[in-house]
Amino acid sequence: MELNILTLCYLIGSVTFIVGLKMLSNPATARKGNWIAAVGMGVAIVGTIFLYRDDEGARLHNYAWIFGGIAIGALIGTLAAKKVKMTAMPEMVSMFNGMGGACAALISLIEFGHIHDISAEPVGKLSIIFAGLVIGSVSFAGSMIAWGKLNGKVKDFDFPGQHMLNNILLLAAIGLSSWIIATEPASAPQLIYAVLGMALLYGVFFVLPIGGADMPVVISLLNSFTGIAAACGGFLYNNKVMLTGGILVGAAGTLLTILMCRAMNRSLMNVLIGSFGGGNKAAAAGAKQQGSYKEISLSDAAVVMAYANKVFIVPGYGLAVAQAQHACHELEKLLEAKGVEVKYAIHPVAGRMPGHMNVLLAEADVSYDKLEEMETANEQFESTDVVLILGANDVVNPAAKTDPSSPIYGMPILDVELAKAVIVNKRSMKPGYAGIENDLFFQKKTSMLFGDAKKVLQDLATEIKSL
Ligand code: TAP
Repeated sequence: MELNILTLCYLIGSVTFIVGLKMLSNPATARKGNWIAAVGMGVAIVGTIFLYRDDEGARLHNYAWIFGGIAIGALIGTLAAKKVKMTAMPEMVSMFNGMGGACAALISLIEFGHIHDISAEPVGKLSIIFAGLVIGSVSFAGSMIAWGKLNGKVKDFDFPGQHMLNNILLLAAIGLSSWIIATEPASAPQLIYAVLGMALLYGVFFVLPIGGADMPVVISLLNSFTGIAAACGGFLYNNKVMLTGGILVGAAGTLLTILMCRAMNRSLMNVLIGSFGGGNKAAAAGAKQQGSYKEISLSDAAVVMAYANKVFIVPGYGLAVAQAQHACHELEKLLEAKGVEVKYAIHPVAGRMPGHMNVLLAEADVSYDKLEEMETANEQFESTDVVLILGANDVVNPAAKTDPSSPIYGMPILDVELAKAVIVNKRSMKPGYAGIENDLFFQKKTSMLFGDAKKVLQDLATEIKSL
């Protein structure tokens, strides 16, 4: 009976994960979807703690450890989530993703430690233990480096022969795992730590050189690794909800990786063998001195937009930094009241996490049907009077189309220069994430409107009201 209730708990967990994930695909239902999946996870955890019995029929007994761990984790998680600024979300997600990978790797280590006679274990079980260890460790180490890169503490780093070393490390970790499984040596309990070390090093070296604008692909790839590593844990424990959760994360991460690859114009193979990036050298190549740029005053910018037929707003990372989404929505409403058609052009990798701009604008209740994806926006720029760029840089950099030495060369961008006029709001002439100059800022059609996005938008609103 208890076992049936536990199965029911797992069924509830699995169904809520699927429903929650589906609801996450729309900003209007995302918050609720998150809650539903979290409640399902809670049901599965509580069910496991109180109803699980092992093969001998024994229950879990180490409640002090379990609840101690849950209390500490819940406290740290709650405080971190409450404290985190919206702009620091991507690094937090990266850190949490790494923790998932670390858990999967620890499960493998602990379960291997429980084996008394390796020759008596089925090859399938041993393979899953080693797969969980390698994939989980790569995900943990890679996510920690990604976390450091996103918060600016870790700089791009590579050295001659790095890709070769990466491939050797990965092959060595897989080779040693296979050898242990095939030959069942007495030194296996020690050798597993050599596999762990190599996988961790691979994770570090895999992400370290990736610079410029390529991080989104890596982040979603690491996300899928964590899912697959968790699914290995599900196989190991024959735990259906862990398996479902892992497979969902793995599949969602893989799909996201494919979408990000498309957005960045990279092939998945390119990502997997780690031969992309460009890092500092490529960034330096793209950083060349440009000519002069022109500025526009607040009042002129207000007039140009208020008397336009169609205005496209291009939000970028700077809009999130300034927390200017509400001020932006305000400006949109004022322009519409003056008869201007206002739309938003959303680049798939604008900001610092997938869907960053969608989430940001949804927070300010910007209507979803005003958001145009890159391809559709590009078709409409020619008939647009003014493009207002708010804290975006790399996603509108024409070097992606024209400069083969640029680290973002080949990435599809928003063709804003097709519009009649372009107004760029940022605080200075400093580069964006890829660290390269932007030729757009020096073009004839472009005018710079310097200042913090929130302040500039509030001042623009005041100007437009007075027209
Ligand atoms: P960026 O190229 O990073 O440019 C953002 C610009 O915002 C900066 O040039 C900055 O210039 C400006 N800015 C910062 N704070 C501001 C403020 N308070 N007010 C006004 N402007 C401000 O952003 P993007 O165009 O959105 O491109 C995203 C980049 O991040 C891409 O290279 C992408 O590959 C990378 N990336 C994306 C992701 C995902 S999944 N979206 C993940 C990791 C990396 P000033 O300093 O002069 O103000």
